[in-house]
Amino acid sequence: MSLTVSSLRQRYGSALILEGVGFEIAPLSCMALLGRNGAGKTTLLRTLMGVLPSEGGTIRFEGADMTRAPSHIRARAGMGYVPQGREIFADLTVGQNIDIVLRNHRTAEPDAARDEVVALFPVLGQMWARRGGDLSGGQQQQLAIARALAPRPKLLILDEPTEGVQPSIVAAIEAAIAALKGRMAILLVEQYYEFARSLADGYVVLDRGRVALRGEGKNMEADGVSRFLSV
Ligand SMILES: Nc1ncnc2c1ncn2[C@@H]1O[C@H](COP(=O)(O)OP(=O)(O)O)[C@@H](O)[C@H]1O
Ligand SMILES: [Mg+2]
Repeated sequence: MSLTVSSLRQRYGSALILEGVGFEIAPLSCMALLGRNGAGKTTLLRTLMGVLPSEGGTIRFEGADMTRAPSHIRARAGMGYVPQGREIFADLTVGQNIDIVLRNHRTAEPDAARDEVVALFPVLGQMWARRGGDLSGGQQQQLAIARALAPRPKLLILDEPTEGVQPSIVAAIEAAIAALKGRMAILLVEQYYEFARSLADGYVVLDRGRVALRGEGKNMEADGVSRFLSV
């Protein structure tokens, strides 16, 4: 398995946010993680990446126990993360945003890695010398995805990549993610599931921090996933 999560538990203060969360993502497969606002999706991803230390359970990636590993070790092992809200470096140029991760990861053939992400999002090539903060929201999201992809992750984790993005760029982002399918494992959080359904091999629905439903992507409709997503 690319990623195996079992019995994961997380809390903020006294509030239990995740309990008993488990799932697996096979290499090169795509998993949709669904659930209402506040269900615990972002908390789960932050725990997977080690941004939050887990309170219980195990996280294995490519056969290695990552449960206690710091974030940069998980990233170096091949876990790429696009956080909700992007978190690019606003004061650095597009090129500097990319080059920093290539250097941190000591990525082999960095010039080729740069070309690969620009081929995926040509607008970043046009904007290469601009400050990240001067890009539109959708362009910043493309930059955030490019930054996660540049070191060639084995698993790409995306937290609501089309949230707050103008419709013209949503299509470009969806096309890029679809193009990545089959080249790496993908864990995709989408609150609205039309796009996720078109892509996902499997899905997991979180409801109040627990796995409420899981199944194959092609059965999402028949399984009644949408009842867990409406407010
Ligand atoms: N930093 C935080 N401190 C305390 N509670 C938080 C924090 N971040 C999120 N929460 C709470 O944890 C729960 C899960 O939030 P989150 O993981 O962001 O859900 P989702 O991404 O599914 O919308 C919510 O009840 C939210 O209010
Ligand atoms: Mg969230």
